[in-house]
Amino acid sequence: MKKPKKIAVLTSGGDAPGMNAAIRAVVRACAYYNLDCVGIYRGFQGLIEGDFKTLDARSVKHIINRGGTFLKSARSKEFMTTEGRKKAFHHLKSNDVDALVVIGGDGTFAGASIFYGEFNFPVVGIPGTIDNDINGTDFTIGYDSALNTAVEAIDKIRDTANSHNRLFLVEVMGRDAGDIALNAGIGAGAEEILIPEQNLGRERLLESLSRSKKSGKSSSIVVISEGDQIGKNIFGLADYIKENLTEYEVRVTVLGHIQRGGAPSCYDRVLASRLGVGAVDALLKGENNVMIGLIHNKVSSVPFSKAIKGSNEIDEELIRVADIISV
Ligand code: F6P
Repeated sequence: MKKPKKIAVLTSGGDAPGMNAAIRAVVRACAYYNLDCVGIYRGFQGLIEGDFKTLDARSVKHIINRGGTFLKSARSKEFMTTEGRKKAFHHLKSNDVDALVVIGGDGTFAGASIFYGEFNFPVVGIPGTIDNDINGTDFTIGYDSALNTAVEAIDKIRDTANSHNRLFLVEVMGRDAGDIALNAGIGAGAEEILIPEQNLGRERLLESLSRSKKSGKSSSIVVISEGDQIGKNIFGLADYIKENLTEYEVRVTVLGHIQRGGAPSCYDRVLASRLGVGAVDALLKGENNVMIGLIHNKVSSVPFSKAIKGSNEIDEELIRVADIISV
């Protein structure tokens, strides 16, 4: 297979802190190897519409520290159609692009893999999502930053919870994955953590909260992943607790999209830089239809089919630690 001379990069799906650092690394690796580079705006939608811009090493100055993605992101319904993907292929060809780097989550990789299958067009992925729900990488870009944002927010909630002897239910992001809830919950000292991977039931939560009260705790924080079955209606859950445990004064905070914004942590900047360079290295070695991730802290590649979620298991040891330290 001939080596690519021109590489395109895009960000797709929910944005994540560190995406800019990843784009920067791809662009600078291209410059380092004397390859041309183009940015595609608005993810696969911009690819379908031919929204391309040439990028050189200086185009990505002063962005390593910036949240969001300057290339913008989108979830493209059109790319799910054969017609849409044909248009995308046409634009890549007419712009003389030889290979594509996609930065995003499992939906992005699923689309990229179909695209590769249809057109045999070289494509490599970089995991960028706050959810950390991708196989084949120790961490996804944005996850560490989102965790720090969540913990900082919960620390503040703890101050007011403690002043008023209240119980706070705090919802964090993670549609299908409990990684943010579990780790932010441990880091912020939550009494209980509810995650989608573990359906524990409302009664068990009541029992646990009763025990907490009896053990002398004056305020409590329950961290709930948005995808958790009993937490899905967090205000309904608050009413249920109020009805059944009248001794508790309950409040709800939904952290929402603040977890997706803000400057990336140093860890995410370094991770994004390593994976961005790794993606260009992989394309130059002739690899494609793979995601570049970090396995045991080594830059590695896994086929898209393995990266896409499904068996991202939650760490049982973390669940045990959370239970023990909240006693
Ligand atoms: O996949 C990242 C994520 O932030 C999830 O945690 C969340 O459920 C979802 O995106 C929200 O998506 P949107 O910004 O489209 O509402």
